[in-house]
Amino acid sequence: MKPTNLVKQLLLFTLILGCFFGVCSCETNNPKQDKTAFVTLKQAYQDYFPIGVAVSPSNLKDSLERALILAQFSSITAENVMKAGPIHPEIDRYNWEQADQVANFARAHNLKLRGHALIWHQQYPTWFFKDQQGNQISKDTLYARMRSHIHTVMNRYKDVIYAWDVVNEAVSDSVHKTYRESSPFYQIAGKEYLVKAFEFAKEADPEALLYYNDYNAVQPSKVNRIESLLEDLLQAGAPIDGVGIQGHWSIYEPSKEELTSALDLYSSLGLDIQITELDISLYRWEKHQRPLREGENQGFTASLEQKQIAQYESIFEVFRNYKEVITGVTFWNLSDRYSWLDHYPVEGRKNYPLLFDTILQPKKVYHKVVNFNQK
Ligand code: XIL
Repeated sequence: MKPTNLVKQLLLFTLILGCFFGVCSCETNNPKQDKTAFVTLKQAYQDYFPIGVAVSPSNLKDSLERALILAQFSSITAENVMKAGPIHPEIDRYNWEQADQVANFARAHNLKLRGHALIWHQQYPTWFFKDQQGNQISKDTLYARMRSHIHTVMNRYKDVIYAWDVVNEAVSDSVHKTYRESSPFYQIAGKEYLVKAFEFAKEADPEALLYYNDYNAVQPSKVNRIESLLEDLLQAGAPIDGVGIQGHWSIYEPSKEELTSALDLYSSLGLDIQITELDISLYRWEKHQRPLREGENQGFTASLEQKQIAQYESIFEVFRNYKEVITGVTFWNLSDRYSWLDHYPVEGRKNYPLLFDTILQPKKVYHKVVNFNQK
């Protein structure tokens, strides 16, 4: 590292640590009068729910990002490295290295760890659905592979992962269908594959909490389809504990009413709820990837910032009111330095969806989220 970079890093590090431990809130010595007193996310929400963050092994290696994670969050999720593609690249080979780094970090620092994700049609290894001749496998072979994958991965992290996203995104995007019929799991086994996935997960680790996880899970047009899927699972006796609402939202949606009615509905099914992948995009949600349009990279303007503050305030107010049913809130990525939304759905469209800025400092919205008692 160049000496100037080193000095810059050290300054930033001191600033971050200073703020984390409250030494930079110097308006007054009386904490009761001090509107800028620095409270961390995990402190602010300790009587509500754990606050988590999705991490990559590179976040854990970067000393500043690591310090930020440890200061602010009580739970982590592996952003990618526990998905089947990365962790099980060949039929007889698992790639544990990066997943172990995340698990060992959680073990070493006593953080809660959510497992993500066992059965998903994306980021899945292509070998999974084919035999040696390249033909589609039978239902029995699919179940044998699912069982072996689920058992092997869950067993390795049994001591540290307390909750797993067992099935991810199995609901159709079309209002006419409940299930995503294009998924290879569905094509081989029909909707029964979901029940099997939960059964295998329960066998592997009877203590783990088992979730169905999806996006647009509070969008009125999709809530009913997710409800049908959950009812199917419950009727079939699948050992499901909860529903993961991803929370890839924007400054435009959801409304408070949409959020509360979805929370009411899922909890009425007797399911526990976690917000598993929260971020508030500056752009409306789009499913399909497309190229950047001219003038679209507008940056983080003051007006967008205000809208983002209002949206975060509104959803966190609802989360607090539903603390009896929400057992975790996890952000998807650490800071605006990097978000998956910089690449999706539009490659190169910079987004600013999180509570920490591009140099890891708390944004204005951070203070609104943690100081909810001060108006
Ligand atoms: C995303 C990761 O953040 C990206 O790095 C990766 O390229 C694609 O997947 N729903 C999910 C997450 O359940 O696993 C996805 O994570 C975001 C959408």
